[in-house]
Amino acid sequence: MIWLRAKSGRIQPTLDSIRHTFSQQQRRVDAQQDIQSQKINWKSVGCAISLVVFTVLLLGSVIGIPVVLTQLKKNPYCPKPSFPIKFPTSTASPKTTNSQRALASKRLCTARASWSSKGITVAGLSNNLPSTALSGLHHPSDIYVYANGTLLIADTDNNRIVKWNQNAKEGVLIAGTGSYGSWNNLLAKPTALTVYHDHLYVSDSDNYRIQVFTLNSNSTSPRAVTLIGRYGQGSQSNQINEVKSLAATASLLLMADSNNDRILSWNFESNFFDIVFENKNMLKSNSTALHHPSGLAYDPKTSSLYVADTLHSRIQKYSINNKNVSNTVAGWGELNRPTAVQLDPSGTNMFIVDTFNHRVLLWLDGSRHGRTIIGNGTAGNGDEQLNSPSQIRFDADYNLYVVDTNNCRVQRFDLISNGCEKYM
Ligand SMILES: *[C@@H]1O[C@H](CO)[C@@H](O)[C@H](O)[C@H]1NC(C)=O
Ligand SMILES: *[C@@H]1O[C@H](CO)[C@@H](O)[C@H](O)[C@H]1NC(C)=O
Ligand SMILES: *[C@@H]1O[C@H](CO)[C@@H](O)[C@H](O)[C@H]1NC(C)=O
Ligand SMILES: *[C@@H]1O[C@H](CO)[C@@H](O)[C@H](O)[C@H]1NC(C)=O
Ligand SMILES: *[C@@H]1O[C@H](CO)[C@@H](O)[C@H](O)[C@H]1NC(C)=O
Repeated sequence: MIWLRAKSGRIQPTLDSIRHTFSQQQRRVDAQQDIQSQKINWKSVGCAISLVVFTVLLLGSVIGIPVVLTQLKKNPYCPKPSFPIKFPTSTASPKTTNSQRALASKRLCTARASWSSKGITVAGLSNNLPSTALSGLHHPSDIYVYANGTLLIADTDNNRIVKWNQNAKEGVLIAGTGSYGSWNNLLAKPTALTVYHDHLYVSDSDNYRIQVFTLNSNSTSPRAVTLIGRYGQGSQSNQINEVKSLAATASLLLMADSNNDRILSWNFESNFFDIVFENKNMLKSNSTALHHPSGLAYDPKTSSLYVADTLHSRIQKYSINNKNVSNTVAGWGELNRPTAVQLDPSGTNMFIVDTFNHRVLLWLDGSRHGRTIIGNGTAGNGDEQLNSPSQIRFDADYNLYVVDTNNCRVQRFDLISNGCEKYM
């Protein structure tokens, strides 16, 4: 467990306004200096500055360091760094209506439910080609679906997060600018996202960090705070190596740290990081080991975590409270590199994105086989086809949204019957 520090989400607007006022003053000062500098002999200024800097450095190293060290020893109060993205404890359950909560509110008799096999493109160009325009997407890899069908899309190869309102013809930029970079308003290949308490959490994959943006910040280029990462690619406790999935529970942010073959958690209340599961010295072939996990789903009723164990082509189920318990709940030769799993309202039946088979399966609890509900196993861009899908989510009516990555689009498959007959 480690402590990390960053700027408070809640004091961010104040910081922004301070920065704004400061930069206005700075501009005035700069302008005055420009006028004065025209009268100054630059050579003498340069000499004077070098002399002052040299003297300060010399004195600093001779006197300063021992003084500071003595002061530190004398002063027992050394404030602990704390992570200040604090959420009021009274709002421990998410304020925003998210797809998970929406699921709990309506009935779905999953085993007998059915969905349209024809998808409707709700984001992306109709020609399925990549585009940097706001009407297009470029290899999107994750979505967050609000209950009303509004989408937040991790538009990976466009280095941005876009919001598509229902029936919109184009997206609105909400994080990243489109440029690949590591400054705090930029993203480099964002691969996963989730929302918790009006904050957007993004896995900024090529920067090996998790960024937190304040939603509805009014800024056209919002800046993020780094939650974990920024120490480069690696497997130390303060490093991540391509987080491919984020899932928020009432108190935890769960992360599939894919290239490190482990699952991490961050506690929203105590601000502690922890490792939920790692392979340690286990062989990757070990029945409980993970091999590039890249999809997560959590069932709060039983504190169970479902993991799409991608390179093992199976779904593993863990108990958060007993990390020793791990079972295979889907796979056995029927999956090919699944990258996402979601749960039905019961928290036990799984919707699996079977990426290399270009399809979505419904896998009932305890079953040895899945049932294909979208796609026919062949990659394509027809309305009944998918090409390397990477995520699936629901809106409040249980319509399915699939991130159809290689077709650069998001498809919606409407619920035809909830399977509960008299409740239809
Ligand atoms: C849908 O919900 C989102 C999130 O609460 C909101 O931002 C958006 O305005 C809503 N859209 C409509 C059409 O109500
Ligand atoms: C954004 O702008 C609206 C309208 O000017 C204002 O009411 C709201 O408080 C602003 N939000 C933030 C987070 O600054
Ligand atoms: C899997 O790893 C565990 C923990 O290291 C070990 O006890 C077990 O024997 C391993 N099983 C196999 C089949 O390698
Ligand atoms: C998990 O296994 C470890 C090592 O075998 C053991 O020390 C620990 O008590 C176990 N935890 C639980 C919750 O069973
Ligand atoms: C899937 O559908 C497409 C288009 O209808 C067809 O060309 C292809 O052969 C089908 N694949 C299988 C495995 O049925």
